[in-house]
Amino acid sequence: MSTQDEAKKAAGRRVIEEFVRDGMKLGLGSGTTSHFFVRELGKHVASGMKLTCTTTSRSTIDVARDVGIQITEPNEIGEIDLTIDGPDEIDRDFNMIKGGGACLLWEKIIAHASKRMITICDESKIVDRLGGFPLPVEVVQFAWKQTERMVRKTLADHGISGIRIERRMRDELPVVTDSGNFILDCHCGAIAEPGKLEIELNRIPGVVENGLFTRESDGMVVGKFDGSAYVE
Ligand code: 5RP
Repeated sequence: MSTQDEAKKAAGRRVIEEFVRDGMKLGLGSGTTSHFFVRELGKHVASGMKLTCTTTSRSTIDVARDVGIQITEPNEIGEIDLTIDGPDEIDRDFNMIKGGGACLLWEKIIAHASKRMITICDESKIVDRLGGFPLPVEVVQFAWKQTERMVRKTLADHGISGIRIERRMRDELPVVTDSGNFILDCHCGAIAEPGKLEIELNRIPGVVENGLFTRESDGMVVGKFDGSAYVE
C-alpha cells in the first residue's frame, strides 16, 4: 500500500476514535479516503457498535454492504448526526472542491442533512487557495452546451481567465452521475471568492450543483504520510 493510502487510512481510523459514537446516525462519504474509513467502520460494527448509516453514492453503498454495514434510505434516516467525507482540495478555512468521483450532488445533500460534517483527507489535499483541481459542475443533459456557455461566462465574470471546460468522459463515453447528469470539469486556476462563485454557479439554469463546498465542513482529520493523523 502506498504512503498516501496509509495516510488516508490513518485519517479514517482517527475520525472514528474522535467523532463516531455508538447509536449515531451517520452519512458515509464517497471516494477512496471515505471507502478506507467505511471499511474500518465495518470492523467496529462487526464488534457490536450500533449505527444507522446512509451514503452519498451507489459506490459507497457497495463498499458498506461488503463490510456488513446496513444502509438506510436517505428518505428514511431523518436528521443525520454526522457526515464524514473526503475533499479533492481543502483550504485552512475548510472550503473545499469536491466531485472528483462525480458524487457532489448527493454529497452536498447529505452534508446539509447533517448536524455536523467532518472532512477526512491525506495531507496532499490541503491547499492555500482552491482551484488547482478542476472544479466539477453537474449539469442536466438537455442543452448542456448552452449551460456550459453560461458557466464559462460566470467564471469569466469572477475574474477567472484562460478557462478550459471539459465534459467528463470515461472510456470515450460521457460520465453520467448517479442522478443522470453530466459533469463539466472547469480548469480555473486560483478561485478568489469560492463562497460567492458557489452561489453564482448554482443560479444558472441547467446547473444542478457545483463542487464548491464552502459552508459544510466543521473540521478536518488529516492523515500524514508518516502514518499519523491530526484533527483541525
Ligand atoms: C467524490 C468526491 C470525493 O469525496 C473526492 O473526490 C475525494 O476522493 P478521494 O478520497 O478518492 O481522493 O468528492 O465526488
